[in-house]
Parts: sequence; C-alpha cells; structure tokens
Amino acid sequence: MASKEPQDIFQSLRKDAFKALEEAFDFETIRKIESDYFGKNGGLPRVLRGLKDMPELERKTMGSTANALKKEIKEMIKIKKGEIEKNNALKNKDDWFDISRPGKKISRGHFHPISRILKEVAEIFESMGFEIVEGPEAETEYYNFDALNIPKNHPARDMWDTFWLKPLKNRLLLRAHTSPMEARYMEKNNPPLRIIAPGRCFRHEATDTLHEHTFYQVEGLMIGKKTNLANLKGILETFLRKLFKNKDLKIRFRPSYYPFVEPGVDVDIKLDPKKDWLEIAGAGMTHPQVLKNVKLNPNQWQGFAFGLGLDRIAMLKYKIDDIRLFHSGDLRFIKQF
Ligand code: PHE
Repeated sequence: MASKEPQDIFQSLRKDAFKALEEAFDFETIRKIESDYFGKNGGLPRVLRGLKDMPELERKTMGSTANALKKEIKEMIKIKKGEIEKNNALKNKDDWFDISRPGKKISRGHFHPISRILKEVAEIFESMGFEIVEGPEAETEYYNFDALNIPKNHPARDMWDTFWLKPLKNRLLLRAHTSPMEARYMEKNNPPLRIIAPGRCFRHEATDTLHEHTFYQVEGLMIGKKTNLANLKGILETFLRKLFKNKDLKIRFRPSYYPFVEPGVDVDIKLDPKKDWLEIAGAGMTHPQVLKNVKLNPNQWQGFAFGLGLDRIAMLKYKIDDIRLFHSGDLRFIKQF
C-alpha cells in the first residue's frame, strides 16, 4: 500500500481540523480538537514523527509547512473560542443575577376604607346577636319597591330614582337601597330574627360631596313579639358608641317618612357637643303592610328596621370630606388607609 505523501497528509489534516472547528460550539469540543491535533498522539506530532527519516532538506520544508499549519489551526481555535464565549454570555444573561443587589420591595395590598368600616360594623352587630346576610345588587322591581309598600306611581318612588336594566320588560334594576333584603329574608325565615344586610346600592342622581351614584348601606332588621322603638334607639346608640369609641356620643330621632316603616324616623348623631347634628340613618317600626307582604301576622309580630349609610360613617370616622373619593380609584387617596 503506497503511503500517502506528507504534503497530502497535511492537506487532509488541515481540512479535517477546520471542519471539526466549524462544527464546534462549546469548549469541551474545542479541547477535544486540541488534543486530537496537537496532543501527544495527535495528528500533527504523528506526522512530524514520520518526518524524522527524511532527507534533511525535505524535512525542513515539511517542518515549516507543519509549523505554519499548526499556527493556522491555533489561530482558528482562538477565534472560535472567542465566539463561544460571546454566545455563552448572551445565553446566560437572563439566568445571571447580582446576589449583592438589594431585594425588590414587595408592595402589600390592604383593605379599602369602606371594607374596613364594614368589617367593624359587622363585628359590633354580631356581638349583639345579629346575623349577617347579603342580597343581590341587580334586584327586581318587586323587592326594591312593591314588597316595601312602595307601589307603582307612588310619589315616594322618586326618593329612590335608580338605574333600570334592559330589557325594561324584565323590571330589573340596580337596587336603590338594601331594604329589599328585609322582605327577601322574612319570606324565607321565621321570626324572631335579627339581621344586618350590608351592600352596595345605586342611585341615579347628581353627585356632590355627600351624594354618589354608588354607595354602601347597612340594613338592619329585628322582628320579635315585643320589639319596639326604644330597642331600636338602644341598639343604634350602643352600636354607634362602640364604632366611634365615644361613650358620650348622642343620638336623636327626627320624624321622617319611609313607606315601609311606621312611624319613620331619621337618626342623627352628635360626636362632639360643640358640633352640629349629622344625619346617619333612616329607620322606623316595620310597616304592618310589609309584614303582610311576607305572610307574617302584624298582630303577632312587630319590629324595627334601619338603613345606615356606610360611606357617611367612613367619612366621619376617617374625616373624609368628599364621598366621591371612595370610588375615584385615586391611589393617593386609597394608600392613606
Ligand atoms: N332604605 C332607606 C333609604 O335608603 C333607609 C331606611 C331603611 C329607612 C330602613 C327606614 C328603614 O333611604
């Protein structure tokens, strides 16, 4: 077998080395190529060893060819290593982080002032034996009005001008107060009973610092054999004194009119003897017609109802002067609580 000419061997070594380098994408492969070509038993030393029996002149030319090739391959390896390094740096950029950097601050959420007040209100009423119930925000005309003794075309309906939902023939609306829950609850539960029904209400009205189209109420209802107006006053006074942490807080009843109570009152509070009375709730003794509407005998059962404005309470407690801030979505306001 005719052995290959050294010149050819160099050529194919060169070709192989370059091909291998072209396909190398990591340092591991590069190291292998280095040992394949320059290691003790690598391609180049082997060829060089084979030159030792050659005539001197030839050996010299072969030697310098070999050296040039060695230089060429080494140069190529250097370039390749640079590329791999660059690639790796790009690849690892996302996994890389500086452990000495200060941690990211996790911002914690907190309750809206209305939610906080609601929680406090619920806790106080629970401590007085009231159950907490909830009703739908999209209400029927019947529960929002008729069941509460507010028939169609009755002028009192104007007090609760609300948003009707389409199609109008379904007679659905956004509840204008939480009182519908009184009728809903009494239909399904037998007295004696004590409930509060907190929730969001809606009214179609011009807004100002005290009025908003969306607001919160807490309905209260207590029905028993002898439940009376004095009980109402006692319960409201106890509740308000606890809520405002003020033993000297005073309340007063003023005659008022709501079709579902008789007599009806508005409740005012005085937080500070030097300040004016502030209206905080509507209330009264449940109207016999309302009891009849839910199939209760008004000669057997009697009781009271009240509707507290939750926003109004939050405003007093936190000294907020504009009700519209609650729903403004303005974080500068919300973050103060
Ligand atoms: N629902 C009445 C309102 O929104 C308040 C109220 C509740 C009055 C219960 C009397 C009894 O104005």
